[in-house]
Amino acid sequence: MALPESFLQQLKLSCDIESVISSYVTVKRQGRNRACLCPFHSEKTPSMVIYNDTQSFYCFGCGAGGDVITFIMKIENLDYIEAVRFLADRAGMQMPETGVDDSAAKLKMRILEMNREAARFFHRCLISPAGQAGMAYFKKRQLTDETIKKFGLGYAPDSWDALRKHLRAKGYSDEELYKAFLVSRSQKGHYFDIYRNRVMFPILDLRGNVIAFGGRVLDDSKPKYLNSGDTPAFKKTNQLFCLNFAKNECKGSLILAEGYMDVIAMYQAGFHNVVATLGTALTQEQARMISSYVDEVILSYDSDEAGQKATKRAVGLLSAAGVKARVLKIEGAKDPDEYIKKFGATRFKLLLDGSGSAADYELERLRQSYDLDSPSGQADYLRAAINGVLSSLATPVERDVYAGKLSRETGVARDTILAQVNAILAKKRRTKEKKEWQDIQSGRQYYADRVNPQKALNKREAIAEERIIAFLYKDNGFSDYILDKISPDAFATDFNRRLFRIIAEKIQHNIALDSLSGELTPPEMAKLTGYLAQTAELQNIKDELDDDIDVLLRHKNRVTDDKIAEMGLQELSQLAKQLGSQKKRDHTKTF
Ligand code: GTP
Ligand code: MN
Repeated sequence: MALPESFLQQLKLSCDIESVISSYVTVKRQGRNRACLCPFHSEKTPSMVIYNDTQSFYCFGCGAGGDVITFIMKIENLDYIEAVRFLADRAGMQMPETGVDDSAAKLKMRILEMNREAARFFHRCLISPAGQAGMAYFKKRQLTDETIKKFGLGYAPDSWDALRKHLRAKGYSDEELYKAFLVSRSQKGHYFDIYRNRVMFPILDLRGNVIAFGGRVLDDSKPKYLNSGDTPAFKKTNQLFCLNFAKNECKGSLILAEGYMDVIAMYQAGFHNVVATLGTALTQEQARMISSYVDEVILSYDSDEAGQKATKRAVGLLSAAGVKARVLKIEGAKDPDEYIKKFGATRFKLLLDGSGSAADYELERLRQSYDLDSPSGQADYLRAAINGVLSSLATPVERDVYAGKLSRETGVARDTILAQVNAILAKKRRTKEKKEWQDIQSGRQYYADRVNPQKALNKREAIAEERIIAFLYKDNGFSDYILDKISPDAFATDFNRRLFRIIAEKIQHNIALDSLSGELTPPEMAKLTGYLAQTAELQNIKDELDDDIDVLLRHKNRVTDDKIAEMGLQELSQLAKQLGSQKKRDHTKTF
């Protein structure tokens, strides 16, 4: 990444991390540092810390972290160059024109152009004689011309190269089409259209860019839907179908459906606050997006087993994001689309208005799985309701209301039920706090370490490496000392070795460290800030460092079985002496 160092330094000086983060969340003072509720996962107590001295942030809850550029990349969903541009705009700085490697941004632009052109092509096909099959399909599904136009629906002709020829003639290369997920490549290297003889659903982002497609077969063949894979312009877990329309019409609640056709059918029936995920289960990221528009979601998934499972999952994710969920009970039809066709929009409206809260829905499901006529069945039901439903309710008011309902149902006093709920909540809290504390102390993360997978096998060395890297980065007068004692080849894990090398090089060439987010991916940046965060409170740096360096050197010089096999007698006795004295040293060390 070739942005000039001087520009990046100026940018960082102008975009103080605390003030940037403060424009998204409320930042509170916490000793020398600042803390806030992490905007990247839902939480009630702040676990994101902002370090003014290193101009970095780190969340002890979810492991998000980095510098001001990483923060903007994550929260605004931008790539590196876009985030720099965003911050430059904010600071009133001019982006340098030359020397900028914006190939990623360029490719994204090209993909958006290709997609727009492809969407036009599919739409024109649909309304031309060649698109008769597609049009007949949409008519069979009772879509009006107006709806077809509104959603920009299309038809991909039954041809291996219709779209490819069209876009090649417009100046796009096969390689570009491939990267846009519009053509595929055979083993022999021939390119061909991915979407053939399918009706096409363009997927738009909030700015109206065509970022991807879904294509459906016209009959019962498989796969029913083909959806674009992730491209530089599209990440399916971060987007919602139709949010570009719904965001202006949601008035407090959104309807969340499973499929494109459900969304379109509901929209056509007059319900404009409807969105769907893009062929995947709801993600935390999507729940967070939803929570920034509404505080209530009506789940209208399919009535089949899979849909019900997905509903349960979505309820959990939404409530974790602070969004109340209501659940639509669709009876007599498999999904909202079919329901509206069978019973009409008015009845669907009644269904929406009458949709119960998620808790009602779950209690109803529980009631069905216990024999409420027997005393033991009732007791089991009560226990399951308290454990599974009431103790998951977010507010005391809700818990109170449902304790009342459950009391009327079972005859058990409301206060008894509430006492039980509170006991469970207290226990959950204690367990959670204990686990968080243990995790923080041991430096363990809540998720698998994908950035440095070798840590699992070299825990001790990896932790030493992390501290050495942190001290090198922060300097504190020790960087020369570290560089003198340790070289990259002493590192046991590849990721840390690379990180060490990058930082060491910058220091040796007197280059500021600010441009690291250009060389490291956001998860890698997060890792680095994690190292900084975990060493923030260490006092006796020199001793700590010496121990860590010792760990690495010993690992590097460890005597492997192979080495022993090659040793002569004299070497072996030397080794035995050495090991003996090492042991003694280990014993005198206190932990
Ligand atoms: P129809 O009414 O049959 O057109 O479909 P639907 O809109 O009711 O969708 P359905 O409930 O069958 O599936 C929900 C969503 O899952 C769809 O909108 C697709 O995004 C996705 N999906 C369904 N089938 C497939 C498939 O075969 N492959 C992939 N990748 N996704 C699928
Ligand atoms: Mn359907």
